[in-house]
Amino acid sequence: MAESLTNDNQATVVAPSNIAFIKYWGARNLRRAVPVNPSISMSLTECVSRCTAQWDTGRGQHEVLLGDGDGNLAPAPEEFAVRVRGHLNFLRRWAGVGGHFRIATENSFPSAAGIASSASGFAALTLAVTRALGKHLDLPTASSLARLSGSGSAARSVVGGFVEWPVGRSDEACYARVLAGAEHWDLYDVVAVVDRGPKSVSSLDGHRRARTSPFFRTRQRRIPQRLETVREAIANRDFETFSEIVEAEAIDLHCIAMTSQPPIFYWRPATLAVLAAVRTLRADGVPACSTIDAGANVHVICPASSEPQVTAALEAMPEVEQLIRDRVGTGPIFDHDHLF
Ligand code: DP6
Repeated sequence: MAESLTNDNQATVVAPSNIAFIKYWGARNLRRAVPVNPSISMSLTECVSRCTAQWDTGRGQHEVLLGDGDGNLAPAPEEFAVRVRGHLNFLRRWAGVGGHFRIATENSFPSAAGIASSASGFAALTLAVTRALGKHLDLPTASSLARLSGSGSAARSVVGGFVEWPVGRSDEACYARVLAGAEHWDLYDVVAVVDRGPKSVSSLDGHRRARTSPFFRTRQRRIPQRLETVREAIANRDFETFSEIVEAEAIDLHCIAMTSQPPIFYWRPATLAVLAAVRTLRADGVPACSTIDAGANVHVICPASSEPQVTAALEAMPEVEQLIRDRVGTGPIFDHDHLF
C-alpha cells in the first residue's frame, strides 16, 4: 500500500472491487460475516470506490455523503447511511476514540448490481477512517475490520492480486491472504452489464436463505476440491482448469439462490444470452469463462490474449448495456485527491 497521505485527521483511499472465483454464499455468523466456506477472488483495477474520511472531535454527529463522479456530493440514501454509521461507530469503539466523522464516498461503476460495490466501498471506508485516526493497519487487521462492516467480501478488497479468504479457526483468525500478486497473471474481467439497476435481493438475504436450498450441502461438499484446483490453476496459470471450476461454481451458487425459500432469481434473459455467447467463444477456441455474483451482470474472465475477441463479441450484443473492461489490480492506494 502507498505511503500515508493524511492531513488534519483526513485521509482518502481508493479501494478495488473484487470478483470471486470461489464464492462466499452462506454464513456461520452473518452479523460478523464469518462465512461457511473459504473464498478466492481477484481484486480489480477499474471498478473502485474512493472514500474520504475526516475525523473531528468537535463534530456532534456523523455525516455521510455520496459523490456522483463529477465532483458533486449529496447526502447518502438513509439505508446506506445507516450501514456506514454503524461501521463508523464500530471503528470508533475499536480505536477507543470519541468524535464523529465526515465521510464522502463514490463508486466508478453501477452500485449494488453484482459488481461488489459494498466490497470496495467498505474496504475504502475502513482504510480511510482508520488512517484518518492515524492507524497503519497490517493485512490481517485491515481485512478483519473490513469484514466486520457486514460486507464479508470487503475482507478481500483491502489488498490486490489473487486473494483467499479462509474461514479461520476463530472469528479473529478470519481474514484474507494474498495467493499471488497482480503481476503473476494478467487476467481480465470484462463485465457485461445487462441491468444497471440495483439487485432484487441483497446478498445478506441471499446468505440468510442459502441453507434452505437442498443443494447447499452438495456445493459445500465440492468446495474443498474446488479450492485446491483453483489455487493450483492460479499458481500454474492454467486457464483451462481454472475456467471449468469458476463457471461451475457460479452456476452452483445461482442454483442455490433459485432453490432457496423463498427463491431468488438474479438472472435475466440477457444473462443467459451472455452465458451462451461465452460458451460459443470457447467452442471457437477463445479462452473465456463466466461468473456471476448476486446480480444479473456477467463477469467474463479471460487471459489478456483473448480480451480483444471477448470484448468485440460482447460489444456486438444488443442485450449488453455497458461493458467494463477490468483486470487484476494491485490493491488500495492512499490518495491526495480528496472528495471534499
Ligand atoms: C455473491 O455479503 O460480501 O458476491 O456486502 O453485498 O458485497 P455485499 O455481499 P457479501 O456477499 C458476497 C456475495 C457474492 C460472492 C462473493 O463475493 O464471494
